Amino acid sequence: MTDVHVMQPFGGPIVGVPDVPGSKSQTNRALLCAALAEGTSRLSGILFADDTEAMLEAVISLGAEIEADRESASVEVKGIGGDLRFQDIVIDCRSSGTTSRFLLPVLVAGKGNVVIDGSDQLRSRPFDEQIRALRSLGCSLTETRAPGELPIEVVAEGVNGARVEISGATSSQFISGLMLAAPLYTGGLTIELTGTVVSRPYLDLTVNVMNDFGVVVEQPDESTYVIQQGSYGCADIEIEPDASAASYFFAAAAITQGKVKVDGLHRDSCQGDTQFVEVLEKLGAKVTWGKNSIEVQGDRINGGTFDLQDFSDTAQTLASVAAFAESEVEIKGIGFIRVKETDRITAIVSELTKCGVEVTETSDGVIIKPDKWRLKGASIETYHDHRMAMSMSLLGLRVPHIEITNPGCVAKTFPNFFSVLEKLRPSAVPLAEAVAVAAIDGPAGSGKSTVARALAVELNLPHFDTGAMYRAVAVAALRQQIDASDSGAIAALAETVDIKISEKTIVDGIDATEEIRGAEASHLVSVVAANPDVRRILVPRQREWATELGGGVMEGRDIGTEVFPDAIFKVFLTADLQVRAKRRFQETADQTLDDVLQDLKRRDHVDSTRDDSPLEVAPGAVIFDTSNMSAEAVVSELAEMFRLRVEG
Ligand code: DC
Repeated sequence: MTDVHVMQPFGGPIVGVPDVPGSKSQTNRALLCAALAEGTSRLSGILFADDTEAMLEAVISLGAEIEADRESASVEVKGIGGDLRFQDIVIDCRSSGTTSRFLLPVLVAGKGNVVIDGSDQLRSRPFDEQIRALRSLGCSLTETRAPGELPIEVVAEGVNGARVEISGATSSQFISGLMLAAPLYTGGLTIELTGTVVSRPYLDLTVNVMNDFGVVVEQPDESTYVIQQGSYGCADIEIEPDASAASYFFAAAAITQGKVKVDGLHRDSCQGDTQFVEVLEKLGAKVTWGKNSIEVQGDRINGGTFDLQDFSDTAQTLASVAAFAESEVEIKGIGFIRVKETDRITAIVSELTKCGVEVTETSDGVIIKPDKWRLKGASIETYHDHRMAMSMSLLGLRVPHIEITNPGCVAKTFPNFFSVLEKLRPSAVPLAEAVAVAAIDGPAGSGKSTVARALAVELNLPHFDTGAMYRAVAVAALRQQIDASDSGAIAALAETVDIKISEKTIVDGIDATEEIRGAEASHLVSVVAANPDVRRILVPRQREWATELGGGVMEGRDIGTEVFPDAIFKVFLTADLQVRAKRRFQETADQTLDDVLQDLKRRDHVDSTRDDSPLEVAPGAVIFDTSNMSAEAVVSELAEMFRLRVEG
């Protein structure tokens, strides 16, 4: 893979059943239990990715025998039966937090010397709380580089369990590691949780997997786990699809107004990240919980406040969805994700900001104030964080020029993410079967007219400027000196005026091609267009036009939202206000640049706040910022996107 993955917008709804790989969290817990167990276990549906390869290598170095079948995503593990001896080995956990934090408490229960280490990224993540807890149990651990960090030298002599206190405020992995190791400690272990516990569903997952391998975990109260000394038995386990990985596809359905089903997840799933679909539901998506599947169908995305303390791995996914929301989205309860693969809060803020999204950081999360008009492509830094790459790529489903740098970082948990996503690109509809409307909406000066006209030529389709229709009514009103505020008179005029739009615009038999663009008509037209009766009369005429011709490139303000909400291809063209003003200024001789700018502002306001069919980004529409692009470049990209939607 190259160093940059350029997203090509889908231009339509994502629909399908993605092939989501096995749960990383369940795989790494099950691999460790199977490796410690007596006998041979079979794990199917497991994840083969960097984080789980780290665990596989680690358990092999501890003496487990592994037979892997990568084709069928399964492994057979012959365990060591609790016989944990090693001499001067180094375990490289790569960048895997679970591998390192699950192994450390296990290693101290064995006999021998071992160094546990990892990538520079893992070296910078905290281990202090787990080290402190293990030292309190008498374990000999030495950090050879920096306190509280890898590498750690372990001189293992077994552990007398008793009682240990541990905080779950930074990472639940510290606690899960102690739980997984507890049966190996003489006398077992009682774990007392102090303070807040983040990601609690992962503790339930640990309990579940331990149960699968025959170990009982008692929980006398919310903050205590009691595990007796004992041994793991072998087991045959079916691993669920990874719920965090699935979140990207559910989000894609929400963003593109598509429909995605993931098989193998359900209400009783052992993974907390399935709760993400409840957030999508609150945002407006339709969620269907099957017996063994979850389906999400996208709709308009609302706003809201969401506490993701229990399923923070989906925070970045939610942040990307929020960029397309109708109102503010607050994500809270996730202060601790600053010490994940990267400082995820800072990363969200800086990368979404680049894409034109207003994001503010709070003490325990972010507030996203979306303004879809401002969305634009950007080169996304991924900070060696697989979740930055996967989540930010979702913006590229609808925003051209989203480039994901270092896309290979997805190998940590989902090596073929981009090809699985690509497989869900909507397939092209044969031209004969479609009313092939390319709906081009956008504010004045966004390049709409030039682009739509040229796109129609490029695609050999008819072109229709619906704005000219409203302008024609405005011209008729000016000619007949009808007061625009007299809405009844204007509506009556719309009913009777004879408008012909082709190369020229003819109003009541007189050429009005120039007149409709004049300052007077331009000034009047937003009032005319805001008149609901005028729209009621003109919109059906616009629909008839396209239906009779079998489709065409149709430009306006409400084509994707009102005139053809089912258009096969919807685009919202935008550009910076300054750029739009300059463009308009070059076209008009009778106004100063500042006058044009003020007029644009006023028209944006009227068009986007009017009660009837306000100018807004149609759900699912591609949002294309043309500020720094030539019309030719925009047309050629749009033509390519359209051809991916309509064939022939
Ligand atoms: O795109 P334009 O500037 O020629 O549009 C003229 C006016 O008509 C503008 O105020 C927006 C309005 N309009 C509309 O409300 N709906 C459309 N489909 C097209 C234009």
